Formats: sequence, C-alpha cells, structure tokens
Amino acid sequence: MHPLTIIFFATLFITLLRRSKKHPPLPPGPGGLPIVGPLFHLANSKDLPPVTYVNWSKIYGDVFHFSTFGHDTIVLNSSKAMLDILDKRSSNYSDRPNMPMVLGLMGWNWNLSMMRYSDWWRIHRRTFHQYFQPRMMPEFLPLQRTTTSELMKNLMETPEDFFKHVKFASDSAILQISYGYTLKQTDDPYMALVENLGKSIEDAGNHGSFWVDYLPFLRHVPAWLPGAEFKRKAETWAGYSRDFVESPWEWLTASIDNATAQPSLSTRGLARWSLSAGDGSFMESVVKNTVATSYIAAAETTPCAILTFILAMILNPDVQAHAQAEINDVIGSERLPDVDDRDSLPFVKAVIAETLRWSPVLPLVISHRAVNDDTYDGWFIPAGTTIVPNVWAVVQDETVYGPNVEKFDPERFLKQDGKELPPNPELFIFGFGRRICPGRYFAMNTLFLVVTHLLATFTMKKPLDDEGKEVTPKAEWHYGLI
Ligand code: HEM
Ligand SMILES: *[C@@H]1O[C@H](CO)[C@@H](O)[C@H](O)[C@H]1NC(C)=O
Ligand SMILES: *[C@@H]1O[C@H](CO)[C@@H](O)[C@H](O)[C@H]1NC(C)=O
Ligand SMILES: *[C@@H]1O[C@H](CO)[C@@H](O)[C@H](O)[C@H]1NC(C)=O
Ligand SMILES: *[C@@H]1O[C@H](CO)[C@@H](O)[C@H](O)[C@H]1NC(C)=O
Ligand SMILES: *[C@@H]1O[C@H](CO)[C@@H](O)[C@H](O)[C@H]1NC(C)=O
Repeated sequence: MHPLTIIFFATLFITLLRRSKKHPPLPPGPGGLPIVGPLFHLANSKDLPPVTYVNWSKIYGDVFHFSTFGHDTIVLNSSKAMLDILDKRSSNYSDRPNMPMVLGLMGWNWNLSMMRYSDWWRIHRRTFHQYFQPRMMPEFLPLQRTTTSELMKNLMETPEDFFKHVKFASDSAILQISYGYTLKQTDDPYMALVENLGKSIEDAGNHGSFWVDYLPFLRHVPAWLPGAEFKRKAETWAGYSRDFVESPWEWLTASIDNATAQPSLSTRGLARWSLSAGDGSFMESVVKNTVATSYIAAAETTPCAILTFILAMILNPDVQAHAQAEINDVIGSERLPDVDDRDSLPFVKAVIAETLRWSPVLPLVISHRAVNDDTYDGWFIPAGTTIVPNVWAVVQDETVYGPNVEKFDPERFLKQDGKELPPNPELFIFGFGRRICPGRYFAMNTLFLVVTHLLATFTMKKPLDDEGKEVTPKAEWHYGLI
C-alpha cells in the first residue's frame, strides 16, 4: 500500500474513533481540506498567522479549532479565554506540543522553553527561577548599567550600526552573567555559534514548519530519500545546537581549571551543587542547559523590543519629545535615569507599555498543550490539543485599547478623566500560567534602562537621503517565532 494511503486511513480511523466517544462538540473552525485541514491556507496566505487567526475568530468566535493530520489546534482570541484556560487551569495546560523536528532531530532538549511538562522541565525551571527571580535583580543591575552605557557610547560612535549595537549589548550582558565571558566587539567566535543557531530556529521554531511535526514517524525516514531534506537540515542543525551548549561550557571548564573564571550563574550553580565543571553529572547538565537557555531566551527577545522602540520614536517625533521633556523635568541633566525612577516617569512608562503592545515580541507566545480532556464554555478540548494564544489579537483589540490600535500612542495608558485604563500588555506578552516568561523582571529592567538612556542622551531621527531629505522607514516585521 502507498504510504499516503496508510496515513489517510490511519487518520480517518483515529478521527472517527475520537468522534465516536461521547463528549461536547469541538469548538467551530475552518475545516479546510480533509486530513490536512486549513494548513495550505495558512501556508499560502499573504497575511501572517496572527492576522489570519484574527480573521477566523471573527467568523468562528473567541475559541476556534482546526485539525491537521488528526492533530487538534485551538486558537484563543481573547484575554478572558487565555487567562481562564492557561492561567486558572495552568496545571492542565503547561505542556508544550511535541516537536519532533526541534526536540528530537535537532537536539534542542536543553532549551527549557521547549521542554515537555515533566520533571526534566521542572528541575530546569526551578534552577532558572533561582537565577532570575525578583530578589536577584539588584545583583544584575551594575552590569546592566555598564552595558547600557557602553551601548550609548557605541551608538555615539557609529549610530548607523544601531541594529548591531543593540544586539551586542544584549548578548554581552547575558554572556557575562551566564559564563563570566566577555564578548569581543568583532569576530568573537561565540557569535558564529549563535548566528547558526538563530537561523535554524527561525526556520523550525514554530510548530508545523515541517511535515515531521505533524507526522512524527517521518523522523525515521533515511536522510538520503528524496523529500527527506528536513533530515539533512536537522543533522546540520543538531551540530549547531550541540556546539552552542558545549563550546562555552568547555571554555568555562578551562577557565575554572586555570583559575581565571569570573563569578557567574555557572560558577554559582556548580558551587550550589558542589560540582566540578565537566563531571558529567545530572545536575551539571541542568546548570549547563539553564545558562544556555538564558542566553538564547534573552538574545532575541529584548533586542526586538528595543528596536521596536527605536522605530516607534523615529516615526513619532512628538512622542519622543514628550518623553524627553519628562525625563528632563524629573531627572534633569546631572545624572541618568535609573530603575528606581520608574514611578516618577509615568509618560516613559506608558511609552514602554505601548512599545510592547504595538508590536508584541512573540505575537503567538509559545504554544501550550492540553494535558487532559477538558471543556470550556461548552466546547470540548481534547487532551493533546495545541493551544495557541493569539496575544496579537488581544493587544490589537479596538474595544480594549482602541481606537486606532495600529497607531503608536502611549496616551492610551494615561489617566483620562473617568476612563478606565486598559490592562498593561505586560500581563499577556510574557505568556501564561506555569510557563510564563521567568526572565521578565530582568527584561523589563534592561528595557527601562536602555529606553531612558536613549531618550536622555539621543534624539532618534529619520535618515537622510543624498539630497538631504528625510526617508521614512517602513514599519515592517519579519515573522518567525519572534
Ligand atoms: C522583552 C523580552 C521578553 C519577552 C517579550 C519574553 C516573552 C516570553 C514568552 C511569551 C514566553 C512563553 C510563555 C508561555 O509559554 O506562556 C517566554 C518564555 C521564556 N522566557 Fe522570555 N521573554 C523575554 C525576555 C526573556 C529573557 C531576558 C529571558 C532570560 C533571562 C527569558 C527567559 C525565558 C525562558 C527560560 C522561557 C521559557 C519558560 C518555560 O517554558 O517554562 N525571556 N518568554
Ligand atoms: C482578513 O484580513 C485581511 C486584512 O488583513 C482582509 O484583506 C481579508 O479580506 C480578511 N479575510 C477575512 C475572511 O475576513
Ligand atoms: C485537570 O484535569 C483533571 C482531569 O480532567 C481534573 O480532574 C482537574 O480538575 C483539572 N484541573 C484543573 C485546574 O482544571
Ligand atoms: C585560561 O583558560 C581560558 C579558557 O580556555 C583562556 O581563555 C585563558 O586565556 C586562560 N588564561 C590563562 C592565564 O591561561
Ligand atoms: C528557546 O527558548 C527561547 C526562549 O523562549 C526562544 O526564544 C527560542 O526560540 C527557543 N528555541 C527553540 C529551539 O525552541
Ligand atoms: C477577536 O479579536 C479581534 C481583534 O482584537 C476582535 O476584533 C474580535 O472581536 C475578537 N473576536 C471575538 C469573538 O472576541
């Protein structure tokens, strides 16, 4: 029998079996073609997935469902549904979808954010939390301040390289914290590791980027088969992933051996468990994985928020001038703003909230997965369903943040007579329940320092063309997981 025929009947069988049990109906949704569902529509639509999902929710409602290869996906469109399901019932919704491509073939199981809900996840999550809980924040501040000053200095020297400088600042801070490693401005070998890794995850990070995510048994096909390109890619990518976790750790081990190691989360973790680096124990891998995760989790996200802020300032000079005036009035020009000044800078706070709302860094967060059968609002949620919270839909909701949600307007977060303030996007954009971003306190401090220092020391303006005329940059995002 042709393999596709087997797939067809197997899926049909599973679907019928499931439907034959007694349970409430599944939420409505786009049916699409049999078996593959609306997969092709999603892949071929010129709209990005969050936009397509908003469209579908207009037709099918707040909680809608589709099925691909017998695999259920439920998309949530409102903050109520997200908080009800992912926060209040967190114990049943903190799993992640099985991602055979990323976790199995690419060897990414060191990444906390992709781990299945399990003891393996729990021990990493606990270790991570020990490092990045609110109580730890004062320890990181001196380094965050230094890194921010260095960023300002680099921007002053070559402002046209702002993209690179923002990324460098974030990378160098987290590497110092994680390994006690000082990143070089140019040609640092570490950056090559990161770049390779970044490219591979761009391509594979969203569940369903590869057929093998839907049909896990495909991982057993030999790499030389025509069409098994994903396997060859995965082999290369698995190498990147291994290097990324192992190389800095080898460097750390060597620097401990020759007594040049700086205090870092790595040395702290080893000391806590009385381990020597390189002993190959279970807890050594946990510490090693945790520091590698903190790098990858911080490296892409915070710079994205900072660059979004810069873009917003360039496109909205009035907002920028208003924020600068506030800093000037409250702080003056004798010193730079610091995290303690947050509450005395309400407009700047609103600018940060609006930055996170205007273009949330992870518009679909990271998918969760239902552990048990459940019902919500009379709809059935089968165990194993991938749950996609469309946070983009929430922060673009006219009824909550409107009007003009596409406009960058911090005023919407400021008290206007009698009007109730909309919720701070921080409540959604860092995710939900037991999976909520554990790096959010660190990220918000970085963001506050960089934003206020930029406002206090620079004016961000449109570039000029050859004739000296301003060129308005287009607000465009490249969409991957981030
Ligand atoms: C503006 C910056 C950031 C944003 C918008 C952000 C957002 C998120 C989101 C949406 C999730 C998924 C939550 C969920 O599944 O419900 C997440 C997970 C995670 N974030 Fe962040 N993050 C940021 C910065 C950071 C930083 C700086 C770190 C590390 C220091 C970090 C570490 C993590 C980790 C380890 C996870 C996985 C947690 C788990 O799966 O249990 N994040 N983040
Ligand atoms: C989806 O939204 C786009 C605009 O982003 C619009 O052009 C399209 O017609 C919408 N489709 C549906 C089904 O509403
Ligand atoms: C989780 O699921 C189990 C089994 O369906 C159920 O008994 C329990 O009440 C659920 N917990 C929550 C918080 O919904
Ligand atoms: C110690 O080891 C580290 C890591 O291999 C190396 O970078 C550094 O140059 C060494 N320092 C000395 C003084 O040997
Ligand atoms: C690992 O986790 C981080 C943090 O959430 C995420 O940004 C990154 O894309 C993840 N990588 C993979 C392979 O899942
Ligand atoms: C889903 O979100 C969109 C965008 O915020 C909103 O216009 C729409 O009314 C929402 N649909 C439901 C059913 O809440």
